[in-house]
Amino acid sequence: MTILVLGGAGYIGSHTAYELIDKGEDVVIADNLQTGYQEAVHPKARFYKGDIRDKAFLDNLFKNEKIDAVIHFAANSLVGESMTKPLKYYDNNLYGTMVLLQSMVENSIDKIVFSSTAATYGEPENIPILESDKTEPTNTYGETKLSMEKMFKWVSKAHNLRYVSLRYFNACGAHISGEIGEAHNPESHLIPIILQVPNGKRESVSIFGDAYPTKDGTCIRDYIHVTDLAQAHILAVEYLRKGNPSNIFNLGNGIGFSVKEVIDTARKVTNHPIPAVISPRRAGDPAQLIASSEKAKSILGWRPEHADLEEIIATAWKWHKNHPDGFKK
Ligand code: UFG
Repeated sequence: MTILVLGGAGYIGSHTAYELIDKGEDVVIADNLQTGYQEAVHPKARFYKGDIRDKAFLDNLFKNEKIDAVIHFAANSLVGESMTKPLKYYDNNLYGTMVLLQSMVENSIDKIVFSSTAATYGEPENIPILESDKTEPTNTYGETKLSMEKMFKWVSKAHNLRYVSLRYFNACGAHISGEIGEAHNPESHLIPIILQVPNGKRESVSIFGDAYPTKDGTCIRDYIHVTDLAQAHILAVEYLRKGNPSNIFNLGNGIGFSVKEVIDTARKVTNHPIPAVISPRRAGDPAQLIASSEKAKSILGWRPEHADLEEIIATAWKWHKNHPDGFKK
């Protein structure tokens, strides 16, 4: 039986496809290559170029391949862009998922694991954040992900379909082999931006605000290695294969690191001074986001293996040092 990875040419999707293939699964990848890269597609996966909003494309795929479960990463995921282009996010994330669900229901595909986000919570009321906490997104990206979760909830009540929604905190790091890693254009995430300095791509890194109510005044995040995220998707597929009910899980390490701590660790890993400049706050940044992942640990049996920030940044550095321009040759 085959697993379909939608968005398998993107950052988290490509790492998940690598782990699935390592485990001996048969993998099909579909991606429109809007933000993904052909070079990130595992050579052993069968690749279909196409868009989840194209129902004929999906119907054809489900007829050609014996798909047992879908893992769905195909979405736009930039918080800032989602505020200036909200309709792009409703179109790709929400409408795309609606078309996908129509095709899955018609083709009797009954299991799906999909990417959700800490952005579904908005400004947290409690730390660490539990799955049962209030969800009040403060940006369009988080809102479309929350709406996707709700669409899955109602569709699964009406049709023979079960889902697992995985709410990621700050995905980071790269495959241990250094073959694939994070590549966004333009880059917007903290760790790859920091590593652009020792790579000679920028002079310094900006710290967005140093007067937050945190230990050193800079924002605190829960950084989770992309391979640990990939493993959680595999466990979620197994959970659904065993006949378990639909569910939602947070995925983080439960440890918070400040922006200054991340920069200091990168200095140590790269042996570069990495100058940092205090800059104004970025709109919409919560001071602190830390996950409780106890539910994923107890129900899925998830055990993140790369909680050490130095190790996380070392894997990212191995990738970025050898691919300063990402996948672009
Ligand atoms: N930051 C800087 N300087 C930079 C870039 C980031 O100081 O040049 C800070 C941010 O202000 C933030 C932290 O570093 O405090 C992490 O920022 P990222 O942009 O790497 O990640 P976010 O926490 O903003 O976003 C992540 C995911 C989103 C998800 C969100 C949930 O990337 O997909 O968490 O809130 F929606």
